[in-house]
Amino acid sequence: PAGGRVFSGIQPTGVPHLGNYLGALETWVSLQDRYPSVLYSIVDLHSITQPQDPAQLRLNILDMAACLLACGIDPQRSILFQQSQVSEHAELSWILSCLTTMPRLRHLPQWKMKSKQKGEGSVGLFTYPVLQAADILLYRSTHVPVGEDQVQHLELAQDVARIFNNRYGDLFPEPRPLLSATRKVKSLRDPTAKMSKSDPHAMATIHLSDSPDDIMVKIRRAVTDFTSEVTYDPAARPGVSNLVSLHAAVAMVTVEEALAQARGLDTGAYKLLVADAVVTRLRPIREEMERLRADRGHLEVVLAKGSQRARELAAPVLMEVRRRVGF
Ligand code: ADP
Ligand code: NA
Repeated sequence: PAGGRVFSGIQPTGVPHLGNYLGALETWVSLQDRYPSVLYSIVDLHSITQPQDPAQLRLNILDMAACLLACGIDPQRSILFQQSQVSEHAELSWILSCLTTMPRLRHLPQWKMKSKQKGEGSVGLFTYPVLQAADILLYRSTHVPVGEDQVQHLELAQDVARIFNNRYGDLFPEPRPLLSATRKVKSLRDPTAKMSKSDPHAMATIHLSDSPDDIMVKIRRAVTDFTSEVTYDPAARPGVSNLVSLHAAVAMVTVEEALAQARGLDTGAYKLLVADAVVTRLRPIREEMERLRADRGHLEVVLAKGSQRARELAAPVLMEVRRRVGF
């Protein structure tokens, strides 16, 4: 498509946290104005690489739809859809898996890490980067917003596109990464680690559904150090510096401007200011999410319409793939 097509996906595995929002979802929202064609998928096929309770998964899919809409994903300007409702993803994934070698997948760092944690993972966990490649290529996407941790998976998609094009003739454009400004939100309990959904400590992570009280308590208990002045020095003072960059990000100001607002405050008083800024930023998202969650029928309609539109784009591409493969 002229001007480019953006594709990205998110797993329906619970309410996103502030790191997901500032590191990814905020960019997703802004891309809607910068590209003529934008697709965002709730990638439920990916989520079953880990065990999922069916009833919970069904809820999580609708919850993620509510969350993305509340963050500003607009079905008028993007196609918001449920991956499993477009069966072309699974079929293209199979075809691409036949063009991908075992060693190529075995060397991906996420597999190395996850299989080490789990002993033996499922075949699905091993091949999910191929499904990611299929997700992207199925729409002949040109741009993919990714975090640094996903760059190697995008490189796999590029390789697979090249292998297909060499064997069967040019079909897939090479998808290029859109690296969101490397803004990392750190854990509130261990500011040397990133904020993550897998952090077991309840106080470490702010979720988009957290109440103002939850946010206040978590930020007041955030790890700082023994210096009461507020300065920005991520290496020497990771805790306080994380609060400053969090403040800057949610208030949409520079680090210098955040520091100017902190002047004269000790870290205790500054935490209240930061908490206030986070609450102010997240309030409209949380309220809209709650409103949308109450209307399950509406969410189902949004996803059904989005999935229909996605199928209309996917079907002719897959038909062409099948023809070239010889089916
Ligand atoms: P998690 O690390 O919590 O499991 P994911 O791996 O599902 O999160 O990440 C989804 C998206 O959110 C990715 O684009 C990732 O780069 C981004 N992201 C995750 N955690 C953070 C963070 N702490 N700061 C900034 N971006 C983040
Ligand atoms: Na991750």
